[in-house]
Amino acid sequence: MSGIIVVGSQWGDEGKGKVVDVFSSMSDYVVRYQGGANAGHTLIVDGKKTVLHLIPSGVLHEDTTCVIGSGVVLDIETLGKELIALKNNGFLSDPKQLLISDSCTVIMPYHKMLDQAREKSRGLDKIGTTGKGIGPAYEDRASRRAILATDLFHPESLRKKLELSLQEKNFLFEKFYDIPPIDVDQALKEIEPLVEILKPHRCKDTSLLIHQALKGGKKVLFEGAQGTLLDLLHGTYPFVTSSSTISGSACIGSGIGPKMIKDVVGITKAYCTRVGSGPFPTEQLNEIGEFLQQQGHEFGATTGRQRRCGWLDLVALNYAIRINGITSIALMKLDVLSGMKEIKVCTGYEVNGTLTKDFPNSIDTLENITPVYDTLPGWDQDISKSSSILDLPKAAQDYIQYVSQKVAIPIDVVSVGPDRKQTLWIKPLFH
Ligand code: GDP
Ligand code: IMO
Ligand code: MG
Repeated sequence: MSGIIVVGSQWGDEGKGKVVDVFSSMSDYVVRYQGGANAGHTLIVDGKKTVLHLIPSGVLHEDTTCVIGSGVVLDIETLGKELIALKNNGFLSDPKQLLISDSCTVIMPYHKMLDQAREKSRGLDKIGTTGKGIGPAYEDRASRRAILATDLFHPESLRKKLELSLQEKNFLFEKFYDIPPIDVDQALKEIEPLVEILKPHRCKDTSLLIHQALKGGKKVLFEGAQGTLLDLLHGTYPFVTSSSTISGSACIGSGIGPKMIKDVVGITKAYCTRVGSGPFPTEQLNEIGEFLQQQGHEFGATTGRQRRCGWLDLVALNYAIRINGITSIALMKLDVLSGMKEIKVCTGYEVNGTLTKDFPNSIDTLENITPVYDTLPGWDQDISKSSSILDLPKAAQDYIQYVSQKVAIPIDVVSVGPDRKQTLWIKPLFH
């Protein structure tokens, strides 16, 4: 079977979009399976930037079919904007290049309102969500009051479902958040234009489509959103997103069996970043963090927020390798480390005087650990124009080898710049 999962091994924004774009030239299908427009995946081709929130990052390759699976929470307004931008730039001329599951949960305007109202009421204890309604939409799915994509095409039952969903929301809005209630007719009116956006891309059964593709020997890439440490169950709860972001979610969110998966590629920045609140053991609230933030242009692709920055954390990375079953790593943004005298890498955590290499499963512990570091020599040269691993300065080559040995996983791809071209291959994909 030729299913490959691309998963973020840190707190998101590792460069998944870039890797998926690069791998897509060798893939027949690219599938998004969880999350929603909280994701921001950046693709740069010959200097031209495309930021995608919902549409899979294979879309710039016209022979690659893009699929949005049932596990995604669908913000059709954002989808509409993305479609327009892509079409204006000459992409997606065939609507059938993008197929969207009829079983996706639809994000409604009231989900975003609730997300934002909750964050506001939490004050300093806020999660730092993207405000895109992700949590409230997944809650509706779990409590069986969600509007699914298919419902938009059945006006009578849609009204009933909306009434059910709005009953509780309006109670919350009025009594708890001092927000005027939402009228069902108004909500229905707002939905009308969304139906037209979705219509050309409807697919009744994306699970069957993907299954048949894999059975027929097609190459299918599963594009994760967010990152391992934002996973609802296995991340730094409660500072997480509301979906399962780990590799297992690819099977659940797209509706295929685990035996269809051949490899899991862990996308890993050569350092760490995080947006929003929550523990971050190797965070550098000093000139090192500022250097990484500036050199790496670390601003969120969805909210524009400044990303918090710190050293690579091998305890967290080994945890990600374990729970995702990562088989190889794409090491991203190595160029950002150029110019550092020395580079630190966290190899363990000290907890109450005891050294551990296991990522703690409680944030209370995580907030009280002291990272233990190895120090490696840095390099001065600009490596962004290197065309092979052998072109890199010895210290950069040693850094790659050091990381690979510490995690006992091959590094198959090294990225030295945001552009598609700035990608160094150690081993080809789908070998
Ligand atoms: P994603 O959410 O994992 O797809 O990552 P984002 O697109 O949110 O953030 C990654 C950022 O780093 C984007 O601005 C990319 O253009 C950029 N990027 C990706 N790879 C590299 C790299 O190797 N070097 C540099 N300097 N930038 C990179
Ligand atoms: P990509 O796919 C980085 C973070 C938010 C917040 C938490 C919960 O681009 O890597 P949510 O809106 O999901 O309820 O917010 O999760 N977050 C991300 N951080 N990259 C992302 O996606 C993220 N998606 C959500 O900042 O801390
Ligand atoms: Mg991102």
